[in-house]
Amino acid sequence: MHQSGKHLYEQVAEVVGNMVQQGTLRPGEKVPSLRALSRKMKVSVATVMQAYLLLENRGLIESRPQSGFYVKVSRERLPAPRRKRNRSQTPRKVQFGNTVETIFALANRPEVVPLGVANPSPALLPLPALNRAVRDVMSRESAHAVSYDFPPGVPELRRQIALRSADIGVDVNPENVLITNGATEGLMIALQSVAKAGDVIAVAAPAYFTLLQMIERLGMLVVEVESDPDTGIDLDALASWLGRQPIAAVVVWANFANPTGALMSDENKSELVSLCNRHRIPLIEDDVMGDLPFNGERPRNCKAFDTRDTVITVSSFSKTLAPGYRVGWTLGGSYHARMMQQKQLNSSATSSLSQLALARFLKDGHYDRHLVRLRRAYQQQVQQLRFGIAEHFPPGTRVSDPRGGFVVWVELPAQIDSQQVYEKALKAGISVTPGLLFSSTGRYNNCLRLCAGHPWNDTMQRATATLGQIVTQLAR
Ligand SMILES: Cc1ncc(COP(=O)(O)O)c(C=O)c1O
Repeated sequence: MHQSGKHLYEQVAEVVGNMVQQGTLRPGEKVPSLRALSRKMKVSVATVMQAYLLLENRGLIESRPQSGFYVKVSRERLPAPRRKRNRSQTPRKVQFGNTVETIFALANRPEVVPLGVANPSPALLPLPALNRAVRDVMSRESAHAVSYDFPPGVPELRRQIALRSADIGVDVNPENVLITNGATEGLMIALQSVAKAGDVIAVAAPAYFTLLQMIERLGMLVVEVESDPDTGIDLDALASWLGRQPIAAVVVWANFANPTGALMSDENKSELVSLCNRHRIPLIEDDVMGDLPFNGERPRNCKAFDTRDTVITVSSFSKTLAPGYRVGWTLGGSYHARMMQQKQLNSSATSSLSQLALARFLKDGHYDRHLVRLRRAYQQQVQQLRFGIAEHFPPGTRVSDPRGGFVVWVELPAQIDSQQVYEKALKAGISVTPGLLFSSTGRYNNCLRLCAGHPWNDTMQRATATLGQIVTQLAR
């Protein structure tokens, strides 16, 4: 104990606590490492550790697994986005025209800082192991690789997918796994197999815009069911729509939804499946983010609660391994045979080389090891992006706090039009996804989706600050 009456660790905590309170150390920043501070203050590492635990107890800093201590961001600075009621009482047409293509044609250019694009950076992907798998296939199975592998697709890949599904309680025969060209084709053939032009599709909103575009192009109608940005689709609202009129299918993103990051509880997943069963409606779930929980516990999907074979699960390796390989799959349950025919008609087959290489990669046991690193990277990038928003965006901004995936949903002050943010950001060399794409109703026009699929660096930091300035100017 010092003459001041304080233990050494309390004195260390006071020094660091002052740095936080005076803003020398900013929200989201890493505090000095245990070793660095112990050298600087000439105290033991154990003393610094004790000081940091004290500051953590006081809510000033937080520890992040494998990464150290960071200055905590106060909840007031990062409140959650709100759910938005759908005032439309009837099914609607989606009328995007070519808005989505125009936005992404500009946003996808390589010189643009990619905050608007939900793709993993190649720097996070296991390129050496994937390359080895491709070379191996080319030397040992080249005849197979150049041939069609007609639906349902490469048997070993389907077996690997069935094995992984079993890990989360989904009992599926590899015969009933259908390989597709990414989740995009999976969603398209799911819709084509259960509904026709004029039918109504109930969709959790805000919704992944490609699905809305498909509804538009297929001449179907949409009802948008309000969702909570944290817990997903509102089951009472869905029940009320289902009771009101014929619905051909329900579409949800139960695990780390794009754009909100919402995660449905197991109870809600089970109730959702029962609700659809009571109304004899197929449930389509898009599970592309399911392998990306930050806590490492892979959540179950709706299929795990499907006792009547009426859930269609759609997924892919695009968010985890290789979007360019274009490999996804469906578990179509009783719709599997229809979906096979539709797949054959749409694209005959999926690239044999990609399928064989991924089958090899999975069989060799690389996937889980890779996922451990990838989830950690996404978690850190998401937090850094959130902290950047907390630091630079104007008061009134709300940000989602996803528990997996890598997209962040930002609600801006009500008067801001995200289309204007998009245009100004693009002029500054930054892409964002404006909220208008996530609904047919325009009610998310003051929202943005930002993506943290790329390693955080000075460019990302500066881009977030620039976005903050753009939004602040528009808020005035
Ligand atoms: C929610 C969601 N579903 C599907 C897709 C499409 O995936 P894929 O590249 O496998 O076709 C994406 C990609 O952006 C997505 O975010």
